[in-house]
Amino acid sequence: MTVLVTGAGGQLATEMLTTAPDGRRVVALSEVELDIRDHDAVRRIVRDVAPQAIVNAAAYTAVDKAETDIDLAYAVNRDGARNVAEAAAAVGAMCVHVSTDFVFDGTASSPYTPDATPNPLSVYGASKLAGEVSVRAACPGAAIVRTAWVYAPSGKNFVATMLRLMREKGGVRVVSDQIGTPTNARGLAECCWRLIERRAAGLWHWTDAGVASWYDFAVAIAESAVERGLLKSPPTVEPIRTVDFPTPARRPGFSVLDKTSTWAMLGLRAPHWRLPLKVAIEEIAHGVTRDHAIVE
Ligand SMILES: NC(=O)c1ccc[n+]([C@@H]2O[C@H](COP(=O)([O-])OP(=O)(O)OC[C@H]3O[C@@H](n4cnc5c(N)ncnc54)[C@H](OP(=O)(O)O)[C@@H]3O)[C@@H](O)[C@H]2O)c1
Repeated sequence: MTVLVTGAGGQLATEMLTTAPDGRRVVALSEVELDIRDHDAVRRIVRDVAPQAIVNAAAYTAVDKAETDIDLAYAVNRDGARNVAEAAAAVGAMCVHVSTDFVFDGTASSPYTPDATPNPLSVYGASKLAGEVSVRAACPGAAIVRTAWVYAPSGKNFVATMLRLMREKGGVRVVSDQIGTPTNARGLAECCWRLIERRAAGLWHWTDAGVASWYDFAVAIAESAVERGLLKSPPTVEPIRTVDFPTPARRPGFSVLDKTSTWAMLGLRAPHWRLPLKVAIEEIAHGVTRDHAIVE
């Protein structure tokens, strides 16, 4: 089976490669090789590669920049997503598209199920929601999986930022009133592989298990980093409120996703977020090139 992955070099695309099951050929293409905004190029390349499945891991993910870079955010997250879904439908390939917890406004007090009503607070969230709509219209058999707070041992993410700031400044101040769930990109990739296997059309939620604030996440990063010798001494981690750390994009105060239906359908339950975080920190400490995937 050949699986085409867009957005190569990104966190999810990288983990799609490291977790590919036996017998799966992954063709991962970067933006330079395949810009998903280019309708004709997407059509042509998908026809040439002739994949049985496509994972759209490409996205405009700069949440704050999107507030002023509106056209580009929509061009990638809505129109690009549609191009990929249309091309998948044209060759009969299973399409897996990835969306975000930022489609919700965070006013709920219990985890969001896939059928909960979205109401994005940011341009990024709105552009991703528009992407969901355009993918569903272009390819009704697509699997759309919403995830949150994604990190990997390399790449631009919260873990990397925290480790850098803790090392450089000896401490961090982190918001404690935004609640969600961290997600290791490797587990997300494994979820995508299962969605492909099951040709699981519909809307799904996937994050690691458990609940955390960004502050909790930072404390756990600090603890694991000290334990693994990545930091010489424990950094200070101070909780602050969102109002004390204004950002261009508004973020949901509560965006825990309910994964019950996904876990049941996939026969795969994510571990509590602290476990894969420890593994990732260990890999960073060992300078590991992530070539040995965790098998569930
Ligand atoms: N990261 C998170 O915390 C998070 C949370 C919720 C949902 N998600 C969703 O999860 C998916 C995977 O995210 P990720 O963390 O792997 O993102 P990522 O690391 O930012 O990777 C996205 C990739 O897409 C590429 N890209 C951007 N514009 C493109 C275009 N026009 N054509 C082709 N490729 C393009 C980027 O290239 P450049 O780096 O060169 O721009 C990058 O390699 C995305 O759909 C994202 O919206 C992520």
